[in-house]
Amino acid sequence: MVQVTFIEADGTRRTVEAREGEPLMISARNIGVRGIVAECGGSAMCATCHCYVIETPGGDLPAPRADEADTIEFNANEPRENSRLTCQIMVTPALDGAVFQVATGR
Ligand code: FES
Repeated sequence: MVQVTFIEADGTRRTVEAREGEPLMISARNIGVRGIVAECGGSAMCATCHCYVIETPGGDLPAPRADEADTIEFNANEPRENSRLTCQIMVTPALDGAVFQVATGR
């Protein structure tokens, strides 16, 4: 299993055992991480799974595809350089120990 930590808006840290081969958003939703709504079900349309990448000890994540980057730019609340849609991040062993800050609202 791959352990990933989410920091909720109030600073609460939630660590999930993420399942390899699934989008990270699924793991976050499974344990009820507050702020991960995933209205579009993972199609990179809604930005309600938006997080900021804080730490990836296993190396940098692959760059977002164009559709993800567009949704972040036009739909996400407070997009930043380290913004990602967790529905577009596939869980791999390299994600072990990663930390994400949940972005609030949209
Ligand atoms: S679940 Fe909608 S953009 Fe990720």
